[in-house]
Amino acid sequence: MTPFDAAHWTREAESWAALSATPDRDNPLWPIYAPLISAKAEGRGMVIGQIGQTLDGRVATEGGRGEVINGAAAIVHLHRLRALVDAVVIGVGTALADDPRLTVRNTSGQSPARVILDPTGRLNDAALCLVADGARRIVVTTVDRSFGNGVETIRHAGPELVPAAILETLVRQGFDRVLIEGGPKTLSRFLAAGALDRLHVMIAPIILGSGQPGVQLPTAVSIAGAIKPATASYVLPEGDVLFDCDLRRP
Ligand SMILES: NC(=O)c1ccc[n+]([C@@H]2O[C@H](COP(=O)([O-])OP(=O)(O)OC[C@H]3O[C@@H](n4cnc5c(N)ncnc54)[C@H](OP(=O)(O)O)[C@@H]3O)[C@@H](O)[C@H]2O)c1
Repeated sequence: MTPFDAAHWTREAESWAALSATPDRDNPLWPIYAPLISAKAEGRGMVIGQIGQTLDGRVATEGGRGEVINGAAAIVHLHRLRALVDAVVIGVGTALADDPRLTVRNTSGQSPARVILDPTGRLNDAALCLVADGARRIVVTTVDRSFGNGVETIRHAGPELVPAAILETLVRQGFDRVLIEGGPKTLSRFLAAGALDRLHVMIAPIILGSGQPGVQLPTAVSIAGAIKPATASYVLPEGDVLFDCDLRRP
């Protein structure tokens, strides 16, 4: 496991802009971001999921709204992921509960397009992720709904939005590298469909004992049948541990 102390993380943050633009194998952060940076440099697609959770696998308190589970360095990490992708995807549950902006603010880099999966048109017109700020904003839905203010809607046949079909749509829009940022239902559907190349699980050293669960898949019949990705782990300054899972390399 690779530990990053606070000074190290900050120092690396200073060189982040250079790293995100130019491969640098000597930078200790390189292994974490190399898959996305290399995919971009080589024009390859990549779908990465991320989730922040407690030691007991909770992503939020029951009915929790926008309270962050992980520490500041983990948020920097999440913003770095956003800066490396073409589009960030969330489900409408997260948009309604947390009202995230989904922009790059805690690091340098350009904000990706924002994509909200809203099959039945529950999204509020005033949601912060729909604010016009230069980034494309796209709602994928199965109903006839428009938002104005330059927000694009893409209609799919319902009732389910099929992950592979969503990704095909995004590629057609020019989005080859995609971050599935949550919440747990959205992430679980992409994971269950085998639609993720990588998964970043950020574990905070806290125990909630109740609250909303993280990834949930169809009932497992054996431990032997579990997904066992090749995984590297990194300790962040506040004690969060990042598990970087390569789902294409069991
Ligand atoms: N810790 C973290 O990293 C993190 C990240 C994000 C969110 N959260 C927390 O997670 C909670 C929200 O969880 P959630 O699982 O409800 O959020 P979510 O995954 O953002 O939203 C789920 C909803 O999105 C729609 N959806 C997503 N994928 C779909 C698909 N393939 N087909 C059809 N509909 C799809 C459905 O909407 P309909 O219900 O309208 O059908 C579904 O109920 C909040 O408390 C938030 O704070 C935590």
